[in-house]
Amino acid sequence: MNQGTSSNPGSGKIILSGMRPTGRLHWGNYTGALENWNRLQGDYSCHFMVADWHVLTTALDKVPEIRENSRQMYLDWLGAGLDPEKSILFIQSEIKEHAELYLLLSMMISMGRLERNPTFKEQIRDLNLGNEISYGHLGYPVLQAADILMYQAHAVPVGEDQLPHLELTREMARRFNRIFGDVFPEPEPLVTKFARFPGTDGKRMSKSLGNTIEISASPEEIRKKIKPAFTDPARLRKTDPGNPEICAVYTWYQKFMPEEVEETARECRTAARGCVDCKMKLADGVIEHFAPLRERRAEFENNPTRLDEIIRAGCERAGAVAARTMAAVHDAMGIG
Ligand code: TRP
Ligand code: SF4
Repeated sequence: MNQGTSSNPGSGKIILSGMRPTGRLHWGNYTGALENWNRLQGDYSCHFMVADWHVLTTALDKVPEIRENSRQMYLDWLGAGLDPEKSILFIQSEIKEHAELYLLLSMMISMGRLERNPTFKEQIRDLNLGNEISYGHLGYPVLQAADILMYQAHAVPVGEDQLPHLELTREMARRFNRIFGDVFPEPEPLVTKFARFPGTDGKRMSKSLGNTIEISASPEEIRKKIKPAFTDPARLRKTDPGNPEICAVYTWYQKFMPEEVEETARECRTAARGCVDCKMKLADGVIEHFAPLRERRAEFENNPTRLDEIIRAGCERAGAVAARTMAAVHDAMGIG
């Protein structure tokens, strides 16, 4: 197993996190998760999972795209610096043990508890699902608990929205341990703190709002998307002083060109800089920021055999861990 060096605070600790493969990753996924995962790799034994079964809960119509989206997700991950030598990168559906643990854990939680899950209630409301909700969708947190507990993770880097799922995972772990003996550590959330990251319309960057910029975007695409992006709406003419605090472009400066932030704010407030120039400068900076990522991504994209091998090797390593955990579960329960 991959242990950190002794100077690392997280040495020996196990991390698991996952993402649903629903398309190319965007700047919001990058600042909200990927960058953080990248940092954790040095300090912890990391497991990063393509949560393809989880896509089925809300998007059965997307099934034909899942395999290709999973590959695209690997490319984004590898491009962003996730290292298959350091971390275990795997696909959920390749590790059938997840299905078995999911079944066992489904006995450790009440229906009422799952129905009260705030994420579930929100989804019913937002997706207008009413009585059409599937049994598997209700069980989403149980599947997620199986993902986490399978690797006996101590910590799970997630966004705030996933906290209820983590709490449910802890409850299932406690219940299992109480009945059958200590098998699972109770995983702690590692909340990824990031100020809400704006999309091109100034609202939170999110695929469903169509305001994303992909981390794999070409320089042309980046320029094309930045050009009409949301700025200070009160700034109608170049001679009007602006307010950078309400401008999406300014937040992107803070993220991608921190050395330019001060001058940008000053020139915006004094109307010394127009939005068109401001955006062009930002585009140049962002293109440079993501260039190494794009290059690394392209390397793997142009070498599908190597990518296949990375996926296979990652799934094999995950499978070995899963087999070990399930042996401990069988042992504890005396069945299976
Ligand atoms: N539910 C997570 C999301 O929607 C994805 C996920 C699946 C996950 N399994 C996980 C995250 C296990 C952390 C740990 O983003
Ligand atoms: Fe935003 Fe720059 Fe325009 Fe100011 S000058 S409103 S920071 S784009």
